[in-house]
Amino acid sequence: MNIVPSKRVQSIGAYAFAEVDKEVSKLRAKGIEPIDFGVGDPTSPPPDIVIEALREGAVRRATAGYPSYIGAPEYRRAAADWFERRFGVKLDPETEIASTIGSKEGIFNFAEGFVNPGDYVIIPTPGYPPYTRGTIFAEGIPYHVPLLRENGFLPDLDAIPAEVCRKARLMWINYPNSPSGVIAPPEFFKRVIEFGRKRDIIIASDEAYTEIYFKEKPHSILEFAREGVVVVQSLSKRSAMTCYRVGFVCGDARIVDIFKKVKTNIDSGTATFIQDAAIAALGDEGHVEQMRREYRAKRDIMVDAFKAAGLEDCTPEATIYIWQKCPERMTSLEFVKMLLADDIAVVTTPGAWISDKTADGLNPGEGYVRLALVPTVEETRKAAGRIRLLKL
Ligand SMILES: Cc1ncc(COP(=O)(O)O)c(C=O)c1O
Repeated sequence: MNIVPSKRVQSIGAYAFAEVDKEVSKLRAKGIEPIDFGVGDPTSPPPDIVIEALREGAVRRATAGYPSYIGAPEYRRAAADWFERRFGVKLDPETEIASTIGSKEGIFNFAEGFVNPGDYVIIPTPGYPPYTRGTIFAEGIPYHVPLLRENGFLPDLDAIPAEVCRKARLMWINYPNSPSGVIAPPEFFKRVIEFGRKRDIIIASDEAYTEIYFKEKPHSILEFAREGVVVVQSLSKRSAMTCYRVGFVCGDARIVDIFKKVKTNIDSGTATFIQDAAIAALGDEGHVEQMRREYRAKRDIMVDAFKAAGLEDCTPEATIYIWQKCPERMTSLEFVKMLLADDIAVVTTPGAWISDKTADGLNPGEGYVRLALVPTVEETRKAAGRIRLLKL
């Protein structure tokens, strides 16, 4: 029997990290344990109140059956209350919020509700891969707009061809931005809202990192408009709950309604006891402040080390990432390999591998490496000490 993957699956391509994995295996074979800044998965646990709420919820709801597709009313209410406290935006939990299984599920499935074959989806590069994969699986066409240092890592809306604008149904934005760590100013949100409204393009704002900031508080796009706008939020980074798989979408009730219809046909919602844990997390800000302090400490240690080694200052304003410019004339892969030398043993991600090329063949991630600030403060200090000694 011939088993052939679909064209969609074939389009995904090979696993890009094999080359880095090989170098890491070589280090381990020599008895060297590398310090891993590769994957953006927090290593600290969620706060005790979250674990307690999960435990209680599991017992209390032992015979509760399937969860609600769109989130329990009390979870949607907690999300609305948090959103109002944090951004000053009132949302109707009945019509303007739906739960997601982490934000990845919402992002990947979102295009199914709005994109027809041949429609464009405008997507930042570098950007979170499910923006592109979800588009391809919905038979849309990704149009990648580069995020460049010279533009403050904001997309140049004027450079998007008229033909793409005409056929685009959806545009993804992501601020605070992964991986560059920049926060978007209010003017940008206003400009992108106007851009979408004039052309009937839904603006989907991935706000997974709004709570990991180091100076000013990032805005939500919903502070500036609701019509034609939807936000994707997540508990993953705010409360170190990546393993819980819980988030929500919110915004224009017409968009949320269509998304609910898609979702009802794809999955059966987030486990209710996990929503209980998320309610506990949303009700507490102390642990988030603690989380921010720790990420800030690690950010400062690493940024100082790169500066001491003679590299450009790439201090992020937010997120758990550093988007570090490589030494002159070095590709991102070459720099990643340099950092994997026996006496440094620091795992990072080549920027070129987490960025899609634009229509004119530019890879805006080339010349950068990404560090996820997930090792402990102590490990981060150890890594920084070695990076300071780099001979560039
Ligand atoms: C920009 C961005 N958005 C969304 C997510 C998805 O997070 P989750 O599905 O855990 O909510 C990630 C995960 O790393 C991310 O980097």
